[in-house]
Amino acid sequence: MQAIIQDSYQGIDALKLLPRALPALTPLGVRVETRYTPVMPYDVLTETGQLKQQRPVRLPIVVGYGFGGIVREVGQLRHTQLLNHAVIGVHPAGSHQEQLLSTFPPLLLPVPEGVSLAAATTLIGGGDAAYLALKKSRLHAGETVLITGASGSVGTYLIQLLRLADIHTIAVGHSSRRDLLRHLGAEQVVVYDQSLTAQLPSSTAVNQVIDLAGSPQLLDQLTELLGAVPILSLALPTYHARLPQQAFTFVSGAIMPKDYRWLLQQLAQGTLQAMIQERLPFTAVKLAQHRLQEQHAAGRILLTYNQEA
Ligand SMILES: NC(=O)c1ccc[n+]([C@@H]2O[C@H](COP(=O)([O-])OP(=O)(O)OC[C@H]3O[C@@H](n4cnc5c(N)ncnc54)[C@H](OP(=O)(O)O)[C@@H]3O)[C@@H](O)[C@H]2O)c1
Repeated sequence: MQAIIQDSYQGIDALKLLPRALPALTPLGVRVETRYTPVMPYDVLTETGQLKQQRPVRLPIVVGYGFGGIVREVGQLRHTQLLNHAVIGVHPAGSHQEQLLSTFPPLLLPVPEGVSLAAATTLIGGGDAAYLALKKSRLHAGETVLITGASGSVGTYLIQLLRLADIHTIAVGHSSRRDLLRHLGAEQVVVYDQSLTAQLPSSTAVNQVIDLAGSPQLLDQLTELLGAVPILSLALPTYHARLPQQAFTFVSGAIMPKDYRWLLQQLAQGTLQAMIQERLPFTAVKLAQHRLQEQHAAGRILLTYNQEA
């Protein structure tokens, strides 16, 4: 089997596709045939060495974090019902490989009937982070939130979760993504490629900014227009607030298996929609990561594996 390997900090174009042996099955292990992995900013930041502080790694590593696939073998201590079942999961040791051995039961979730595996895979590093942001924000129904980076994988889920919670959303994104942001439930769309001053009059009342773009300059501009609105960021570990009384919090972490089950249920019922920007074969990982950086986001780019099976 082949895996996508990072063995330097030279960035996207230094990635390698190399043969790799799968570790032997353990009693708690589950062998998954990979079908999809999400292409995430986290991977590119690791490849360029920008996450050395937050995520120290010993090279070489297999790239990637989340996966969707089919269970092909289970260890003695795992449920045999999982066999041939579609699953999604987190694989901190690297998910961009044709097969993987998942060994920590809470990090593997069966996908219910009626949910496509591609859609379910976008929950890993997308819907889960949006869910975390909503919980940490402590926003209430009727309040107003402004989201930066709204057309990305996390943002497209967050807008929908906020709508379900009756929270008003002002979404900031590129003008080419205006219709998408409206469709998802944003009540107002502010496009960052036009003057923000004209779009956000001083009368605009915002209870919270949720930052998914990670641009200090954009946050500075928003503070100038909106005042000392508290900022919760998933994208910036630190930010020097422009106003002394302005609260800034960085949020990172995991959600519980029951939260994933709830998100999967919403996909099954159609109350949440997965936004898939593009699917590319895993052999085109460099192209996929360049697209992540260079195109305006519309949800998640997925790598595909074993599609002929
Ligand atoms: N803390 C955590 O637990 C956690 C978990 C998951 C993700 N994250 C972080 O959350 C952020 C969003 O993740 P994602 O997967 O949704 O990323 P994504 O799909 O790449 O989306 C990023 C969004 O930010 C926008 N953006 C980037 N730079 C901008 C700028 N200078 N001005 C305006 N908009 C800008 C992009 O707009 P365009 O596409 O128009 O350029 C895009 O809509 C990332 O920083 C990621 O690392 C954190």
